[in-house]
Amino acid sequence: MSSQALEPFVIVAIDGGAASGKSSSARALSERFNLLHVDTGSYYRALTSELLAQGVDAGDIPAVTSALGGLRLGTRVDGRSARMEINGRIAGEEIRSREVNEAVSHFAALPVVRQALLAYQRGQADVARARSFRGLVMEGRDIGSVIFPNADFRFFLEADPAERVRRRAREGQEDSIAERDRLDSSRRASPLSCPAGAVAIDTTRLTLPEVVETMSRAIASRLSPA
Ligand code: DC
Repeated sequence: MSSQALEPFVIVAIDGGAASGKSSSARALSERFNLLHVDTGSYYRALTSELLAQGVDAGDIPAVTSALGGLRLGTRVDGRSARMEINGRIAGEEIRSREVNEAVSHFAALPVVRQALLAYQRGQADVARARSFRGLVMEGRDIGSVIFPNADFRFFLEADPAERVRRRAREGQEDSIAERDRLDSSRRASPLSCPAGAVAIDTTRLTLPEVVETMSRAIASRLSPA
């Protein structure tokens, strides 16, 4: 048996609201355990940016469906991060613009948009295996509930809204956090919620190293640090 066959491949799911600490902790875990980092929020943002550029309105389902049919999705691995290519192009900083912040939850609420990304997101595990990562750490809203309900580790991050607004401000970003959370939690298709069996962590009064330490202790039971 090869040593690769003995090495477990681990899937870590991190869900939570906007600015709850998902990206920072996912990035730290990817470094510590040599996991491919997948930020699915950036995928919804990139699709939104593309659809807005094509002049498509989230209320016009036939137009959204037709535009999605014309998109070819690929993946580029940049260090330990997966990036989505749309028709061969990687989106830039425009995915953090105010227009995208305001529109992304409306597009993400559409079943046709979620369906377009479902198999693609699951396929990121194959990308991680092909690139010899020891697993995958995927962050989003429905990773532990819909994309990988059988993930080895499922975490759900929470934080007080005021603290989350302060975090975004420190990053120099203006974000409609409360409104996005309201839309993401109340939609019918894969709403944001802590799935049964996931480990909930309130990050309001924790430092990033403390959050990462809590997650790492669990993961280290399966995988030694890289
Ligand atoms: O993580 P983020 O704030 O960059 O995500 C942007 C939006 O994308 C978020 O408001 C809702 C949507 N999203 C989603 O519906 N499902 C995911 N798995 C990830 C993001």
